[in-house]
Amino acid sequence: MTREIEVDQLTRDQAAQELARLARLLMQANTAYHQDDAPEISDAEYDRLKARNLAIEARFPDLKRDDSPSEQVGAAPAEGFGKITHTVRMMSLGNAFDAEDVAEFDRAIRKYLGLGTDAPLAYTAEPKIDGLSLSLRYEKGRLVSAATRGDGAVGENVTENARTIDDIPHSLTGAPDVLEVRGEVYMSHADFEALNARQAERGGKTFANPRNAAAGSLRQLDPEITRARPLRFFAYSWGELSEPLADTQMGAIARLSALGFSTNPLTERCDGLDDLLAHYAQIEQQRATLGYDIDGVVYKVDDLSYQGRLGFRSTTPRWAIAHKFPAELAWTRLEAIDIQVGRTGALSPVARLTPVTVGGVVVSNATLHNEDYIAGRDAKGREIRDGKDIRVGDWVQVYRAGDVIPKIADVDLSKRPDDAQPYDFPTECPECGSDAIREEGDAVRRCTGGLICPAQAVEKLKHFVSRAAFDIEGLGAKQVEQFYRDGWIKEPADIFTLEERYGTGLQQLKNREGWGEKSATNLFRAIDDKRRIPFGRLLFALGIRHVGEQASNLLARFYGSWDEFIKAMDGAKDCAGPEWERLLGIDGVGEVMARALVTAFAQEHERKSIDRLTAHLTVEEATQPDTSGSPVAGKTVVFTGTLEKMTRAEAKARAEALGAKVSGSVSAKTDLLVAGPGAGSKAKKAAELGVDTIDEDGWLALIGDA
Ligand code: IVH
Repeated sequence: MTREIEVDQLTRDQAAQELARLARLLMQANTAYHQDDAPEISDAEYDRLKARNLAIEARFPDLKRDDSPSEQVGAAPAEGFGKITHTVRMMSLGNAFDAEDVAEFDRAIRKYLGLGTDAPLAYTAEPKIDGLSLSLRYEKGRLVSAATRGDGAVGENVTENARTIDDIPHSLTGAPDVLEVRGEVYMSHADFEALNARQAERGGKTFANPRNAAAGSLRQLDPEITRARPLRFFAYSWGELSEPLADTQMGAIARLSALGFSTNPLTERCDGLDDLLAHYAQIEQQRATLGYDIDGVVYKVDDLSYQGRLGFRSTTPRWAIAHKFPAELAWTRLEAIDIQVGRTGALSPVARLTPVTVGGVVVSNATLHNEDYIAGRDAKGREIRDGKDIRVGDWVQVYRAGDVIPKIADVDLSKRPDDAQPYDFPTECPECGSDAIREEGDAVRRCTGGLICPAQAVEKLKHFVSRAAFDIEGLGAKQVEQFYRDGWIKEPADIFTLEERYGTGLQQLKNREGWGEKSATNLFRAIDDKRRIPFGRLLFALGIRHVGEQASNLLARFYGSWDEFIKAMDGAKDCAGPEWERLLGIDGVGEVMARALVTAFAQEHERKSIDRLTAHLTVEEATQPDTSGSPVAGKTVVFTGTLEKMTRAEAKARAEALGAKVSGSVSAKTDLLVAGPGAGSKAKKAAELGVDTIDEDGWLALIGDA
């Protein structure tokens, strides 16, 4: 190590360098001490470095860094919380943006439940609180844990912090033995203003809006800090229960209120669509005077047995929706248009804006969607914004709704600079120079460079390690970019040989900037943990166009094992023949997705890369729902004709829950045809193939629900 220069001898440049070095060393020491429980330097040396840092800052106050160690206590909080696995997943909500979306929500529910358009159907409507959700678990009336939503499956353990919130009871009388209460933690406008004023006075961190303040306050490692922050809680939902709370949503909320929880006073029961929209308008009018942020109105089916029948899509309930308030708007200057290249090669134009505050958040980038959008046309060639195009230098209207990426809504032509030119969308990839082409019917121009395009390769890798995919701890977007840049990881398979190549020897991971012995070992262990991977996750991680998380899981359940799936893809590679028909027969797989899938596995380049990857993996077979004793587990079932006791969607969901595969067409692989009145060609084909055929009552008797 170079000898340290006395503080009073340092030149300005040397001081700046030294502050950077100290910030890095102290950060490493903090991480080692607080997160890894493995201090790397002695306490005395730590104190000496800290004192030296302070002395340099005192001599050159203007060189003090934003990440100055003298401002920091402990280590980054995210690592500091324990994890809690939710016994019942925490869901999010689908969105409706206008009355038509709400009407569609109502129609879909009626259809699913088999109710006529005029049949009575009650909903509840209540404000959508703009805070963060929290799940509170009570056992025998005592609060035992509190967890944030996290990724819906696993959240952070914030029990001690939750206990400091006045609205959260520590004990309940007359509650079910197991009761998980869910709701929103939020901060009122008045408390938010006061907190920011106090923080500013002390030179501490101020918050952009009440929601950030609530999140920052709840997720404190020290519960005493949370206690000093005025947080509140509204209960609106529940997780695990040892006995039902009521028969209706309204009744359940009344019960939670009787148990001592705050519930929102604007919650109301509504009869049908018109009533919902009327209550929405009423809440929107009151919005500005509520004293806390809300960003829409949540509608829920009132009858809990209907909620049970409707169930969930992958992350949202079918029985609820959030009707969002219109977006917030602001005008600003468009300074430049940049092109970003995504994982599938899509060239996405991004607007760089003169920063402007929109609804309390500073916005400096917005999406421009695609070249048609910039030119003033929609996907079908019709005019949008009255045909006005968007040019660099234009005065543009920015809007944002909730957490979504801000968009550009309008252009003010009266303020257009005289020399502004129509935007020339690139026809070559700005990252690799390959041709960027637009396929017929596609709104998006794509780079044809495939994996030779560094932008695509990196984006694919980032997707590969993302949360819903391989989710490797310690290997996020930033690390992937670094490893890619240095040539250590070029494709997913390289992740699994990283230790072999860089665990020992001259060029070791632990010697790299930002890595140490402990973090390198942790990374290698985290990678090893993912050598076993569920089929659905692996497929999703490959980032094949049109094949999202839900489709990946559907395919995994359908084919069961990876080997079966690969055989099927090989069999379907010409987009013809029985395997191709079988793939298309899967309810939820359309032709576009099927082609994308088959092509990905048939292209030599991509296939070899996938095979190199799977050579390092054990792919877990798709977990089927617990179907022990189910008479239809593993059977391929087709429904045809009219069903009278349930809708087709409900029949399908029930069959899948019992482990059956539901297909839309009859083939030699079909085990059972359920035929209602009016069944036609499918029944005929089944008869020809000798497939067992039963009617709806037969089906209900079979699954034990006659
Ligand atoms: S119900 C299974 N009701 O909105 C349904 N959510 O965008 C659970 N939220 O994650 C949610 N106010 O954090 C529900 N009155 C309300 C809500 C509400 C705010 C939040 C919640 C959820 C998010 C979805």
